[in-house]
Amino acid sequence: MAAGKGTRLKSKLPKVLHEVGGQPLLAHVIAAASQVVPVQDVFAIIGHEAELVRKALAHTGVNFVLQKEQRGTGHALMVSAEPLAFYDQVIVLSGDAPLITSQTIEKLADFHSSHRATMTLLTARLEDPSGYGRVIRKSPSSAEVKAIVEQKKLSRSQEKISEINAGFYAFDVKSLYRYIAKIDTDNPHGEFYLTDMAEIFVKAKEKVVAVEAADAYEVLGGNTRADLSEIDQQMRATKCRQLMAEGVTIFYPQTCVIDSAVEIGPDTIVEPFVQILGDSRIGADCRIRSYSVIRNTHIEDGVTVRPGCIVEDSHVKNRAVLGPYSHLRPGSEIGEGAHVGNFVETKKVRLGKGSKANHLTYLGDAEIGEGVNVGAGTITCNYDGVHKHKTIIEDGVFVGSDSTLVAPVRLGKGSYVAAASCVTYDVPADSLAIGRSRQITKEGWVKQRRVARQANAASEHK
Ligand code: UD1
Ligand code: CA
Repeated sequence: MAAGKGTRLKSKLPKVLHEVGGQPLLAHVIAAASQVVPVQDVFAIIGHEAELVRKALAHTGVNFVLQKEQRGTGHALMVSAEPLAFYDQVIVLSGDAPLITSQTIEKLADFHSSHRATMTLLTARLEDPSGYGRVIRKSPSSAEVKAIVEQKKLSRSQEKISEINAGFYAFDVKSLYRYIAKIDTDNPHGEFYLTDMAEIFVKAKEKVVAVEAADAYEVLGGNTRADLSEIDQQMRATKCRQLMAEGVTIFYPQTCVIDSAVEIGPDTIVEPFVQILGDSRIGADCRIRSYSVIRNTHIEDGVTVRPGCIVEDSHVKNRAVLGPYSHLRPGSEIGEGAHVGNFVETKKVRLGKGSKANHLTYLGDAEIGEGVNVGAGTITCNYDGVHKHKTIIEDGVFVGSDSTLVAPVRLGKGSYVAAASCVTYDVPADSLAIGRSRQITKEGWVKQRRVARQANAASEHK
């Protein structure tokens, strides 16, 4: 169920597209569901901003069911009758509860089958159950349930019940649709509540049972921004613990933001206040120093990322050194053992093995060979206002500081560029290019000026 607006988030974005652990809430739920059944048997009920949700999740391969008007969780299942008619059993998941695991979904399905129940609900015991529907069992030790009572309808004594309805169910499909029309809208929101099915089935002498989740935090729902932040923290804490168990050192994990899909090799050290996002893969024996933000990037083994680097859609090879304060924009490929230093920005660049660009440089749309030294302040002038052009720097080139390389331009193998040159023509291999005017030195010029000024001042005082 993913059709709701998420009024409590006060957002223009539909609730299930709000992100935790770097992915939309619904993406997490779909991932768990697809581990239990083939993805072609997963249906996402969408409604509010349906096209946005469909677009964001289409790559998962799930089916979509449109709930045009969102008249409650019961109504969500009413509109799903057609596609579900092909199945005997349906497991209903809440699209806003992303911590659910495939093991718990399986446990719910198994419990349902082994109890030959018509409806099985997943429950949890929460220290603070407020906001959730509460589960009324026939007796405290019974698996059988009498009813689910929503927060707003709780009596004084029911408020104390700590066992909550997690919003995950297994149903016998035929029975669900035989009785679903009995749900009414007699509640404070005037909605069709799926939770009413418990009482409806009990009255019809159908069996309703409940199974408790092993870990209560798995069922947390993201109704408010505070809920989302709590879920996000839980998810990232779990991710960090998992990485640490795999041999990664993370100092102050509570300050690091590591997305669920990220992979990190053993003996890599992640310092405080680091973000590693998206589809990033980091090898073994790296050190990622504080305040670096790395997104969708492949970093190989033994790489040092010094503090404050921003790295996106790039590839950094073995033993390279970045930073401090390097900005690697998309398409940067940094070769083995290469160095990219302070305030160096790269974009669509291949920097060859052992090459160095250590200070205050912009390298864009460039192919740079091996063993190249790019001096401080070098700029590739890659843009003429209309088109981008390429700079090619062959192996072993030495580019003196403060050079501007006006693309398209090629610096041949082993050539030198004198400091402060503006290079507008190709430089053949093994040649020296000097692209600046000659220095003129006027000997004694300052002294002459000083003497002239003093003479002037003396005449004014007369
Ligand atoms: C629901 C349960 C509550 C349970 C809680 C667990 C009901 C009436 N209440 O409350 O007992 O404790 O989940 O998290 O079911 N949705 C639709 N179509 C709609 C309405 C909602 O698809 O018309 C989707 C929402 O997008 C959401 C899910 O159903 O993903 C649950 O809806 P929500 O409004 O969050 O229900 P809760 O108030 O949390
Ligand atoms: Ca909810």
